[in-house]
Amino acid sequence: MATTLAKAADDTAAAEHAARIEHVSKSFAGPAGQQLVLDDITLDVAPGEFVTLLGASGCGKSTLLNLVAGLDKPTVGSITTDGRPALMFQEHALFPWLTAGKNIELALKLRGIPKNERRDRAESLLELVRLKGAHGKRVHELSGGMRQRVALARALAQESRLLLMDEPFAALDAITRDVLHDELTRIWAETGVSVLFVTHNVREAVRLAQRVILLSSRPGRIAREWTVDIPQPRRIEDAPVAELSVEITEVLRGEIRRHGQH
Ligand SMILES: Nc1ncnc2c1ncn2[C@@H]1O[C@H](COP(=O)(O)OP(=O)(O)O)[C@@H](O)[C@H]1O
Ligand SMILES: [Mg+2]
Repeated sequence: MATTLAKAADDTAAAEHAARIEHVSKSFAGPAGQQLVLDDITLDVAPGEFVTLLGASGCGKSTLLNLVAGLDKPTVGSITTDGRPALMFQEHALFPWLTAGKNIELALKLRGIPKNERRDRAESLLELVRLKGAHGKRVHELSGGMRQRVALARALAQESRLLLMDEPFAALDAITRDVLHDELTRIWAETGVSVLFVTHNVREAVRLAQRVILLSSRPGRIAREWTVDIPQPRRIEDAPVAELSVEITEVLRGEIRRHGQH
């Protein structure tokens, strides 16, 4: 499976961007008229790049991710992606009446993978997320961390060149989250998939990303960005991760104060 995924990622060499967000604004109709949620966002994700989108809750992160996913349309501006992105959310959104393996096989079926190949591919994907032997397990038999592993395997089953992740580990305990950070970093390196990862957790953003984009609140604008050149694999408690997190937190606090939140 890793080879197939790596091959899919190789094709991105031809595409200039995994995602291109150009001058995107988004408004919603509210009780006091139109509410501007995102204001003039311009951002590219390069093929194979890992970008985190960081901001206070309510600043428009999910709104932006949904626009990139094509679930909603920008009010102004344009978004293009290299193929259809795969999605992963905080809620695993697995079908509880299907086993872990069948959840993944369903994604393969929707991609038109022939029936006789699905089982093997699902097994390989489960192995990739280190859940070998879990094919027959029901969702309720799995821990929160294992469910997110299955959800990740299902997202990877789509062989998209862009993976969109919306706070996928936010509901997990710190140790499980830590382990999944390691797994995601490994899988990202192995597959070459591009990742746009949303979080409100500064340390998580720094632990994972090559680039951290900080969104301001009300409306969401790109406030600042940082290139993170700390070598992988990183640990969340590493001194350089902690130092950069302190710096980013200071800027984030300033943004929150400026916009009168919390
Ligand atoms: N479909 C919608 N209709 C109206 N308002 C929305 C809709 N979706 C999001 N919003 C508003 O947009 C703002 C940003 O929300 P969201 O993108 O979920 O923030 P975040 O993910 O950063 O916490 C919030 O004020 C929210 O109420
Ligand atoms: Mg959100």
